[in-house]
Amino acid sequence: MHQLNYRNAPPRVEPPQSIRYDAPPNEYRDLAPMPTIRSFLEQQETAPSLIHLFEELSSACQDIASRLQNAHNTNSTGVVENTNVQGEQQKKMDVISNDIIKQKLLALEAVKGIASEEEEHPVAGHSNGEYYVLFDPLDGSSNLDINVSVGTIFSIIKAKPEEDASDEQAYLKPGHEQCAAGYFLYGPSTQLVFTTGSGTHQFSLNTDSGEFELTRENILIPNSTQEFAINMSNQRFWETAVQEYIQDLLLGEEGPIQKRFNMRWIASMVAEVHRILTRGGVFMYPKDSRAPEKPGKLRLMYEGNPMAFVVEQAQGRCSNARNNVLDIKPSHIHERVAIFLGSKEEVDRAELYHKKK
Ligand code: AHG
Ligand code: MN
Ligand code: MN
Repeated sequence: MHQLNYRNAPPRVEPPQSIRYDAPPNEYRDLAPMPTIRSFLEQQETAPSLIHLFEELSSACQDIASRLQNAHNTNSTGVVENTNVQGEQQKKMDVISNDIIKQKLLALEAVKGIASEEEEHPVAGHSNGEYYVLFDPLDGSSNLDINVSVGTIFSIIKAKPEEDASDEQAYLKPGHEQCAAGYFLYGPSTQLVFTTGSGTHQFSLNTDSGEFELTRENILIPNSTQEFAINMSNQRFWETAVQEYIQDLLLGEEGPIQKRFNMRWIASMVAEVHRILTRGGVFMYPKDSRAPEKPGKLRLMYEGNPMAFVVEQAQGRCSNARNNVLDIKPSHIHERVAIFLGSKEEVDRAELYHKKK
């Protein structure tokens, strides 16, 4: 049998800052066969039940990827009559993606229950299951009609035998208890980025073989950056600390931070995090006064926690501006959270502006 030798792939060479905008080369492309999710996770000595879960989730998301590719031909873009539990307008593909993942996961003996951004309550699966899977079936879905990247985000936590999987209390564990997390990015290519607590890794779907193949291992987010992402149209609703921090970023080399920044906003968290995992950056969705009762827009269980785990395993940071997101004890399943994530230096700096207040 062919021996996998990707552990011996050449070490990644950090490109100089001036060419950071190039994605790192795929160090595995000359290997035959390229490592698959299964061969990679087996080498990491991941539990067989979790490997199987990963494979089933990947097959569900492959299905979503191909439906997205045909969405404009099959009248699957646009909205449904409903709003979801969070009062947000649901897109047809939000509902379709949710159903695909839900059906696939609930068929697995290892899954004790699921919770989704698009479901009001968690849904119980197999009573002896080992895992809960929490997910945002389609992230950035406002981008669908304009054919821009969207994604699926997932978080996997261990279940205890005595827990009731239809009760949301069972799921309300801090993010540092996740045993795996990641996302699928539906862009020009379909990619899976995940962590099981031993680094963050990227797989890309080979549409010829139908396999996800390892294309980046042990991703590292550079410590410092000259790129930030925030929805500037909300500026007047931000807290003073955020106003001041962004103002100083905009002042560039003439301000206290003494370097010039570029800005990006895709309105798809998966795509923003993916950019940061590729060339660094800081992504922010702070609390604002549009909905003062909510601590932010993004959801702790489906967006904050899984992205925080992925980013931390890539040597970045994720904070709500005061605490590590992974340390927050959730109080309800659809809880919101402020997010500052990415290159360590800027997340530290954003926290400092909040401490000064
Ligand atoms: P979702 O499509 O799952 O509701 O999430 C959208 C989120 C996130 O992906 C993105 O960063 C943010 O909402 C964009 O918000 P604005 O439209 O307020 O910029
Ligand atoms: Mn989302
Ligand atoms: Mn969503």
